[in-house]
Amino acid sequence: MTVTSDDASTGDQSPAQDGLDAAERLSSAELRDLQLERLKSTLHHAYQNVPYYKRTFDEAGIHPSDCRTLADLARFPYTTKDSLRENYPFGMFAVPREQVSRIHASSGTTGKPTVVGYTADDLETWATVVARSIRAAGGRPGDIVHVAYGYGLFTGGLGAHYGAEKLGCTVVPVSGGMTARQVQLITDFKPTVIMLTPTYMLTLLDEFERQGIDPKTSSLRVGIFGAEPWTPAMREEIEERAGIDAVDIYGLSEVMGPGVAQECVETKDGLHVWEDHFYPEVIDPLRDTVLDDGEKGELVFTSLTKQAMPVIRYRTRDLTRLLPGTARPAFRRMEKVTGRSDDMIIVRGVNLFPTQIEEIVLRTEGLSPHFQLVLTRHNRMDHLTVQVEASPGVGPATRHDAAAHVVRTVKDTIGVNTEVDVVEPETLERSAGKLRRIKDLRGED
Ligand code: DLL
Repeated sequence: MTVTSDDASTGDQSPAQDGLDAAERLSSAELRDLQLERLKSTLHHAYQNVPYYKRTFDEAGIHPSDCRTLADLARFPYTTKDSLRENYPFGMFAVPREQVSRIHASSGTTGKPTVVGYTADDLETWATVVARSIRAAGGRPGDIVHVAYGYGLFTGGLGAHYGAEKLGCTVVPVSGGMTARQVQLITDFKPTVIMLTPTYMLTLLDEFERQGIDPKTSSLRVGIFGAEPWTPAMREEIEERAGIDAVDIYGLSEVMGPGVAQECVETKDGLHVWEDHFYPEVIDPLRDTVLDDGEKGELVFTSLTKQAMPVIRYRTRDLTRLLPGTARPAFRRMEKVTGRSDDMIIVRGVNLFPTQIEEIVLRTEGLSPHFQLVLTRHNRMDHLTVQVEASPGVGPATRHDAAAHVVRTVKDTIGVNTEVDVVEPETLERSAGKLRRIKDLRGED
């Protein structure tokens, strides 16, 4: 069966269904058939054209022709960020370099960047899934879309850009930074959709308020936020302050970029994985076994249509679980990603993610949503300090109560002793892109 996402949709449609592409209307059985056909062809393509995959498949004693069902994928070896680094820069490409239309890269914290490549067809697929995502978020042809994800090697800006154009929107390619000007452009151009990281949205909201403009009066209707974890409490904060619908977009450069999965505005119940292009599995990261849907573990993706750089069982390090489809019944949802295995802090044996602190900070009166976690070591013991900005105009007594509340709640709900330092507004670092919440000073005392 051949289905292209571009096929025009036909038939009777409710308004919410109006404009769905053909793949979004597949039944579960049709989707599984399509996935199997595409998976087989991807495994052959990777094996024949990328020496890394030939070697690792051979070492594992498995051949692409051994894949007869979707479950057979579990017999193939994983790919990791290290696999990509070892083949830096272009060793994972499955087509001659001349057929690669674009390169993106992510810097990571150490070592060489991770390089990814796209053929012209891959770019078309990417634009299609991002267009589908913006539509699922509530965007429509004719909307003005303000893109404040960074443009450049990061996939956020250009990924959002071509998807919005493909949907038939007017794109304002602002990129990140120059916050005062962002507010001016929103006020003057009157976009209805905005795409940026959730923490940068908070910075924009502060800037609106600093300029004496109530962000609720802006033209914005929908915000599409991703590239970093954010909590339901953050959604409430943004929706309340901006008067918009805030929905989640997920993706990673190794698999494509933004648009691998998207939350639908009508349900806001997790992200539908665009499974016609990206096949998800959730594994137990310690035992390397595939978990059943509903169980939480590490998300692993296999690309189903990528030409330039197919990825087989790529380990994302993102922690989530797969749930049945709702607004798009054939596509499984992934629960909002609340952390990456490498963002997990272990304080005196207790595991903790920054998003757990975010939930607590956002629900504490007198505190702003701007915080960071500082890890130090005293007498060989790990020590966690939550540095959080007071809300503007909040006096010493409220700050003291707020700090005590956070210390108590963290102890009661997570089981960790913390120190909470309520600092002046506007003193912690801001980021126009992904924010680093954790400052690890443990090597430095
Ligand atoms: O962040 C792609 C992207 C851009 C997604 C814009 C959404 C919006 P990378 O720089 O390769 O790509 O980083 C990928 O970011 O493995 C997650 O850990 C994290 N991430 C991305 N989206 C979300 C999200 C882009 N919605 C890494 N929620 C991923 C939580 C996210 N984490």
